[in-house]
Amino acid sequence: MRLHIDRFESSFMTLSAIMIAGFGLAVLVAVFGLGVQLPGQVDQLAPAEVDSAPGFDNPGVRMVYPGKYEAYIVVQAWQFTPTEITIPAGSELTMYLASKDIIHGFHVLDTNINVMVIPGQISEVSNVFEEPGTYLYMCHEYCGALHHTMVGQIVVTEE
Ligand code: CUA
Repeated sequence: MRLHIDRFESSFMTLSAIMIAGFGLAVLVAVFGLGVQLPGQVDQLAPAEVDSAPGFDNPGVRMVYPGKYEAYIVVQAWQFTPTEITIPAGSELTMYLASKDIIHGFHVLDTNINVMVIPGQISEVSNVFEEPGTYLYMCHEYCGALHHTMVGQIVVTEE
């Protein structure tokens, strides 16, 4: 038995299939061509234990070796600790974030860093900062009355 498919329906099905293939291709190009990746929830950490966890007990940035830095950032309503991170240009910065209370967000302007900070999880994001300048970061998950005050900055200095 041969299905009869209306000509218009058939063309819409073809168009739909082409679009789905196009979206799939866009995902593959984004992941393998442009390096876009889902920020990792790398480990678990109870909100009550953030202050005593290694790294988060002394939040801030430190050099792992020249050109490689890591920062531990404690997140709570309504502030990031620290509010400023300074690194030299050309450095790779890996940031670990943990929330002490509710869901917050972490977005760094002029980069593709954009991650949720979920209580109970450690979020990790990395970026190489080639250009000197000031990169603002902010909370982008609405978290209450002073959500809009949750900001900080990464200062990238001349090498
Ligand atoms: Cu934290 Cu909005």
